Amino acid sequence: MLTLAEMSRETIEAMLSLAEGDCGRPLEGKGVALLFEKPSARTRHSMEMAVVALGGHPVYVRADEVGIGGRESVEDIARTLACYHAIVAARVKDHGVLEAMQAATQETPVLNMLSDIAHPLQGLADLLTIKQLRGSIEGAKIAFIGDGNNVARSLAEGASKLGAEFVLAAPEGYAFEEATASLPSVSQTDDPAAATQGADFVYTDVWVSMGQDGEGEARREAFLPYQVDEALMAHADEDAKFLHCLPAIRGQEVSASVIDGPQSAVWRQAENRLHSARGAMAYLLGVQP
Ligand code: CP
Ligand code: NVA
Repeated sequence: MLTLAEMSRETIEAMLSLAEGDCGRPLEGKGVALLFEKPSARTRHSMEMAVVALGGHPVYVRADEVGIGGRESVEDIARTLACYHAIVAARVKDHGVLEAMQAATQETPVLNMLSDIAHPLQGLADLLTIKQLRGSIEGAKIAFIGDGNNVARSLAEGASKLGAEFVLAAPEGYAFEEATASLPSVSQTDDPAAATQGADFVYTDVWVSMGQDGEGEARREAFLPYQVDEALMAHADEDAKFLHCLPAIRGQEVSASVIDGPQSAVWRQAENRLHSARGAMAYLLGVQP
C-alpha cells in the first residue's frame, strides 16, 4: 500500500468497512515494523495502537538507527525486517525508498506512512471522516486550499476512485502534476473562493512540509492569500466541515477561529487515523469485511 492511486475502489471500500467494524486479531503473535525517517505524532501512535488492537506487537525503528542506504542498503533492511514482521511500514523522505522496499520484500506488504508524494493512511482516514459526517463519499465536494502536496494528492486519488469531487486551489508552481490533475472528478484553480463555492468539506495542510524548510520564506509568501478563515468558509455549504491532517499552524494555513470553531472536524479526523490504520492492516493481512 504505497498510494491510493494503485488501489481499486473495492479495496478502499473494504478497508473503510473494516475500519468501521470488527477486524479480529490477525496479528496474533506477529510483529509490524514502523520505520521513521521523519517525525510523527498521529501516525506513530495510531499505528502502534492499531497493531495492538489487531493482536500484534509494533516495533518502532528510527531510520538513523538502521542507517538506510548507509550502514545497509534499503533492500537489505526491508528483507531483514520482513524476516520478523507481517507488515513493514515506513515514513520516508523519498517515495522511491518505499518502492525499493516493496520490490525487495515481495510477499510482505510495505505500508506507506508518508512519503514526499503520498500519505495514503491519512487519505483513508479522511475518506472515513467524510463517510461518517456526510453519510456517503460519492457526490461530496472537497475543496483543498493550499499546497498540492502528499496529503492533497492521496485524498484526490481516493476521492476520485470513490466518486467525490476534489478541487485544489493552489498558487502557480504548487498545483498537481498532470497525472493527478487529470484524474476523474479532480480539478484545480488558483482561486480559493471559487474552489470553496458550495463545498461540503474545506481542507488545508501546512504550507511548508517536513524537509522543505529551505523553501519556507518563498512558500509562506506564495500561500498568503490561501489561508482558510471565516470569510473563505462563508463560500462553502452552510453545513460544511473543516478538515486538516495536523499538525497545524494557526494564523498561517488556517485561522484559529476556523480550526477551533464549530465547523472543525479535525479531532474526529485524528481519531479516525486509528480506525483506518486498523482497517488497512487487517485488509493487507487478508481479512475481508
Ligand atoms: N497527520 C499526520 O500524519 O500526523 P503526524 O505527522 O504527526 O504523524
Ligand atoms: N504535508 C505534511 C503532512 C504532515 C502530516 C508533511 O509532509 O510534512
